[in-house]
Amino acid sequence: MSTEPAYAPAANLLRRALGHFATGVTVITSVGPDGEPVGTTATAVASLSLDPALLLVCLDWRSATLGAIAGHRAFAVNVLAHGQEALSINFARRGEAAMWAEVAYDRWPSGNPRLEGALAGIDCALEDVLTGGDHEIVIGRVREVGTDPQGRPPLLHWCGRYAGLEHR
Ligand SMILES: Cc1cc2nc3c(=O)[nH]c(=O)nc-3n(C[C@H](O)[C@H](O)[C@H](O)COP(=O)(O)O)c2cc1C
Repeated sequence: MSTEPAYAPAANLLRRALGHFATGVTVITSVGPDGEPVGTTATAVASLSLDPALLLVCLDWRSATLGAIAGHRAFAVNVLAHGQEALSINFARRGEAAMWAEVAYDRWPSGNPRLEGALAGIDCALEDVLTGGDHEIVIGRVREVGTDPQGRPPLLHWCGRYAGLEHR
């Protein structure tokens, strides 16, 4: 008898199907209860509203970063540039302080880390958190934005691998 949970095949198929939806890659940053920076790699990020200025991020309910956001009541979205795969891999590790040792960043006035070399930084106050199955839909009210003046290309994620723009 298979020991696979009944939902496993559907989850794998859903992940494979949605993997075809190419996305940018972000690192969501916030501040832990001890004042230390926290961050997680996330592709489930979307704009939500222009007036008021809202965006959303979907985070696994087990995410250490989600817990920090709930406490700090703020977070920042860092949109990664082509060539920043190492940052994406680094922040896909779970809640280890060591992941910040080699990372260059400064801070928004909110305290949220702003990663050096990111294409865009969007600093948000926590507006709301809604439950969506095994994830939480984290809604941010945009406080400050910064964008790359050089128009460098983005890091993309597609079918489980990193990619870049082929046609520009
Ligand atoms: C390319 C990529 C995209 C990811 N997107 C998300 C996402 O949108 N939401 C999420 O909860 N986890 C996502 N993850 C997984 C988290 O980065 C990973 O579980 C991380 O260890 C969570 O760290 P934390 O517990 O310290 O917050 C993604 C990972 C990768 C590599």
